[in-house]
Amino acid sequence: MAASLVGRAKGGTGKYGFASAAIVCQNSGVPETRIVHASDEDMKPAVREACGLLRAGEIVALPTETVYGLAADAFQPEAVAKVFAAKERPAFDPLIVHIGSRRDLARVALVPEDISETVNQLATEFWPGPLTMILPKHPDVPDLVTSGLPTVAVRQSAHPVFRAINKELGNPIAAPSANRFGRISPTSASAVIKELDGRIPMVVDGGACSEGLESTILSIEPRDGKKPIFRLHRAGPITKEQLQKFGKVEKVKERAGELPHAPGQLPSHYAPVTPLRIVEDPRDFRPEEGKRYGLLCYRGGDDDAYVRRHEWDAVEALSPGSGKLAEAAIRLFFAMRQLDEAGLDEIIAEPVSETGLGVAIMDRLRRASVRP
Ligand code: TXA
Ligand code: MG
Repeated sequence: MAASLVGRAKGGTGKYGFASAAIVCQNSGVPETRIVHASDEDMKPAVREACGLLRAGEIVALPTETVYGLAADAFQPEAVAKVFAAKERPAFDPLIVHIGSRRDLARVALVPEDISETVNQLATEFWPGPLTMILPKHPDVPDLVTSGLPTVAVRQSAHPVFRAINKELGNPIAAPSANRFGRISPTSASAVIKELDGRIPMVVDGGACSEGLESTILSIEPRDGKKPIFRLHRAGPITKEQLQKFGKVEKVKERAGELPHAPGQLPSHYAPVTPLRIVEDPRDFRPEEGKRYGLLCYRGGDDDAYVRRHEWDAVEALSPGSGKLAEAAIRLFFAMRQLDEAGLDEIIAEPVSETGLGVAIMDRLRRASVRP
C-alpha cells in the first residue's frame, strides 16, 4: 500500500499550498495518496490544502456525513473527468453536486415555479443534510457532471469539514462516493485508501461518517391543489416517514434492460468481492463441507439464532450496542468490508426489518447480494 500518513497538514508549501510530494504524485501517474487529518477544532490546514488541489483541477477525497466523497470543482470538466477515471465509473452515471450555501442552488439548478415552494420546504427541513434533489440543470453545469441529462442532483453536506471546503472553494463540488465503481462505499479515510490508493493525491480524514449510508435521492412532480409526488430514486438516511409531511412518496420502478434512472441503483452495487447471500431464516442455512462462511447478523450475541447456527469463520454484528437501525446504518459498509477481508467463501446476511432506515439498509444488502 502506497499511502503515507502525514499527520496534520503543513500547508503553505508550493504554489497551491500542498507538499511537493503530492505534485510529484500527480505527474508520475503512480501517486502516493496522502492522508491529511482534519478535526472540527483544527481543520484550517486541511481546508487550505484541499482547496489548493481542487482549484488546480485535482481531485480529493473528502468526508461527508453520509460516506466519503471523491471531490472535484463542479465547474472544471477536466477535473470531473479525473473523478470518472479514478473510480472507473462509466460516463453514463451522473455525479451529485454539493453546494456550500442555499444561495448557490441557483448557480446549478433552474428551479421551476411549480415546485419552488416544495424545494424550499425540503431544503429548510433537511439541508444541510443527507437529502439529494434532482432538479432541472443550470446551463453552467458541465454535461459531464450530469452525463448529458437535463437534470442535476443537488445536496448540501452537513459535514463541518466538507462545508468549510465547499465555502472556501466558492464553487459547487461534484462528488460521488469515493469507491471504485460498484464497490462498497467508504465510511472512513482508511476505507478510501483501500479503494483508491495511488489513484488520487489526497484524502482528508474527518473521522468516521455519522450516517453511514448514501443520501436519499428524490425528484419532485407537482400536482394541482395536492401535495407533490416525490419519486424516490434511492432510499437513504432521510426516510419515507420523514418525507411524507411534504409530499407523497413513490418508489421509482426499475425496469430490466433499461439504462438506470440512477445508476447507483443498478441491481448489483455496493458489493463486496466475496459473494453475499441473505438468509431469511437461520434454519435454512446449510453449510457446504470445507467452505469458509462469515455471518453478517443484526444484533449478534451468544444466544442469537444466526450465531448459534454454525461455527462461523467470522462474525460481524450490525447493531451490537443499541440494536437500533441508526447504528446498523453506520456500521453496514464497515462490517461488509471487514467480512470481505476475512478470506471467506461466502457471507451470510441476516435481513433487517424494513421500516424507517431499514428500507435503505435492505436496499444496500440486496444489491450487495446480486453478482455482477
Ligand atoms: O451521500 C451521498 O449522496 C454521497 C456523498 C458523497 O454525497 N454521494 C453519492 O454519490 O452517493 P454516488 O455518485 O455514489 O451516487 C449518486 C447517485 C448515482 O446513483 C447517480 O446515478 C444518481 O445519484 N444521480 C446523479 N445525478 C442524477 C440525475 N440527474 N438523475 C438521476 N440520478 C442521478
Ligand atoms: Mg456510489
